[in-house]
Parts: sequence; C-alpha cells; structure tokens
Amino acid sequence: MMRVFLILLWTMNLVQPNVPQAAGVQVFPPVNFTLTVSALAQVLLHWKPNPNQEQTNYTIRYDVKILSPVPEEYDTMKTHSLRTAALHNGFSAHIRMLLLHNELQMRSDWVKEELPPPPGTPETSVTNLSCVTRITISNTVSLHCTWLPGQGAPEDTEYFLFYRYKAYTEECQDYIKDKWNRNTECRFSATRIDPEEVDELIVIHINGSSKYAAIKPFQQLFNQNAIEKVNVPRNVTVFLDQNDLLATWEKPISPFREECFEYEFYLCNLKSGTKQILKISSNDFRLWIDVTNRYSIQIRANHHICCTRGFWSDWSEIIYVGKN
Ligand SMILES: *[C@@H]1O[C@H](CO)[C@@H](O)[C@H](O)[C@H]1NC(C)=O
Ligand SMILES: *[C@@H]1O[C@H](CO)[C@@H](O)[C@H](O)[C@H]1NC(C)=O
Ligand SMILES: *[C@@H]1O[C@H](CO)[C@@H](O)[C@H](O)[C@H]1NC(C)=O
Ligand SMILES: *[C@@H]1O[C@H](CO)[C@@H](O)[C@H](O)[C@H]1NC(C)=O
Ligand SMILES: *[C@@H]1O[C@H](CO)[C@@H](O)[C@H](O)[C@H]1NC(C)=O
Repeated sequence: MMRVFLILLWTMNLVQPNVPQAAGVQVFPPVNFTLTVSALAQVLLHWKPNPNQEQTNYTIRYDVKILSPVPEEYDTMKTHSLRTAALHNGFSAHIRMLLLHNELQMRSDWVKEELPPPPGTPETSVTNLSCVTRITISNTVSLHCTWLPGQGAPEDTEYFLFYRYKAYTEECQDYIKDKWNRNTECRFSATRIDPEEVDELIVIHINGSSKYAAIKPFQQLFNQNAIEKVNVPRNVTVFLDQNDLLATWEKPISPFREECFEYEFYLCNLKSGTKQILKISSNDFRLWIDVTNRYSIQIRANHHICCTRGFWSDWSEIIYVGKN
C-alpha cells in the first residue's frame, strides 16, 4: 500500500508541468516517448504531444537532446526523428516541449528514454575494425574489412559481418579466417554503395556466436569517402623538353571530376640520392632538372575538394628519365 502511494507520488512529480507565471499557460512534457531500432545502427525516436496540452495560438517545437553514444542537440516541429549511431553501448535521449508565442518561450520538463546495450560477455566483441572501399572499373564500389577477435572471445567464436548503406543491408558471403578458423576479414566485390554520393555513411555491424559465451555485437560508422582507397592515376607520361621535365597524367578511375583530385609527385635523383615529394593540384607538371642525371618518378592521387580525403592511392609504376 505504502509502496503504491510512493510510486504514485513520484510519477506525479515527473509529470508536474512548468507553470510560467507570465503567460499562465502550462507546458506539459511529451508523452509516449519511444526508441525503436529500425535498421542496423539506426534509431527512430517517436513521441506524442501531451493530450493535456493547450495548443491553440502557440507554435510547438520539441528540443531533442541525444546523450549517448554521441551527444547532439537539435529542435524539430515533428514528433519523430531518425538517427544513425553505433548502438553497441546503448542509446539515450531526452526530449521536451517548447511552446513559442510572440517573444515568449516556454519549456516543459525533460522526458528521458534509453535503449540498453545489447547483451553479451565483456571483451567478446571484435576490436581494431578497419574497412576500405575501392571504385572498380565498372563504377561499382567494393568493400573490404578486417578486425581482431575480442580478447575474451572463446576459440570457437564465429563472427558475422553486415554492412548497411541507406536502406540496404547485406551479410558478408566471403570471409577469410585466422589460424583458429575464426572469421577476421570480409570482402564484398560489389556493394550497393553509390560511388557518386558524398559523405554518406556506411554502417558496419559485426556480431557472433559461440557455444561458451554470448558474443557482444559491435558497430562502427564510416564516411564512404574517408575510407576509399583511391585508384592510381592513369596514363602517366614523362618526357624531357630541353632542361625541363614534363609530366602529364589522367585522373584515377572515379566518378568525381578532374578538379576534385590532388597528387603527390615523387622525384628521386638516382645519382645524388635526393628525394622530393611535390604536391600538385593539376594534371600536368613542369620542373627544371639537371638532365645529366637520371631520375625515377612516381605519382599518387587523393580526392579532397569534392568530398572528404580518402586513403592515398598506391604509387604509379616507376618511370625513369635522364641519362645514366
Ligand atoms: C500513449 O500510450 C498509451 C498506452 O499505449 C495509450 O493508451 C495512449 O493513448 C497513448 N497516448 C497518446 C497521446 O497517444
Ligand atoms: C487565440 O488568439 C485569438 C486572437 O488573438 C483570440 O481571440 C483567441 O481567444 C485565442 N484563443 C485562445 C484559446 O487563447
Ligand atoms: C589494435 O588497436 C589498439 C588500440 O587502438 C592498438 O593499441 C593495437 O596496436 C591494435 N592492434 C593491432 C594488432 O593492430
Ligand atoms: C547478427 O545480426 C543480424 C542482423 O541484425 C541478425 O539478423 C542475426 O540474427 C545476428 N546473429 C547473431 C548470432 O546474433
Ligand atoms: C590512356 O591512353 C590510352 C592509349 O593512348 C587511351 O586509349 C586511353 O583512353 C587513355 N586513358 C585515359 C583515361 O585517358
């Protein structure tokens, strides 16, 4: 009996609205705030205005404050909001109602909701996940990920990798195993990743199973451009024009325009041993050299103006110029 009474008191305390003296209007916190996992590493926040809330003549907005895993604050007029976040350590958020009328701004109390972390034995999730994409000749994107088994993962642990890109989710079919026969690498030779998109997220989800322990899932978000291993510049030609070295090349295989690329030009004087790396933002280059010496030349590429920088391409094949 006592207990029921206490809980009742406590609940009433929670829904106690703010009463701004000036306006004489009560601002009630939103109700039925729910968090739903709607896809891998995706949460739908959903709530309703308080049915006791007087709404006429007011603009209603909601403050959303994400507390974890990545703090973020924003406001919205909608009663739902979709977020992408790694959920292996759970997710928690606060919302409150904002009532706006002329100069007046009134706020309700916060309502909190959280998703618990998925179950699993500590130290069983994968570590050191790294992923690389490449753009193929056929203008599709391949994906390659590697990871280490968790320190506490039993030897029979089998890991499974999934990627999600926008609304599309796919499980890996091509695993590479370590010496204990555990999956530690995965290849997708083609994915639904759009090579023309900029800064879109790739979600990686790795869970697992074992006879001896519950394996904790792990998620990580990658910017598709930041993990792209850029292709090598093409058709590099180098020749001498009197005392000048002239080099021209084509941009790597990529849907991005020529202006999106930068290059590094590696010049090694094989006689003196002097090495130089020059940053270049065009597709050709002229440099005075001592033509009585012999040089080796290589070029590599990265994109950066049109999107986030990726991993530098491999160096192009060595080209030699000059006299021996
Ligand atoms: C909130 O949820 C309860 C229980 O599901 C339901 O009865 C109620 O109508 C909902 N309130 C609103 C405002 O939708
Ligand atoms: C809304 O505003 C109008 C005009 O200012 C006023 O006549 C009306 O009484 C207001 N309604 C409420 C419910 O406050
Ligand atoms: C894994 O990551 C940890 C922490 O980032 C680092 O210290 C360690 O060297 C990495 N291990 C390997 C094998 O790369
Ligand atoms: C791993 O995650 C996928 C995608 O959410 C799920 O379908 C599958 O049941 C999970 N497997 C294990 C062993 O937890
Ligand atoms: C590279 O050179 C070859 C032969 O000259 C040519 O057919 C090809 O179109 C060039 N590639 C690019 C990307 O310009």
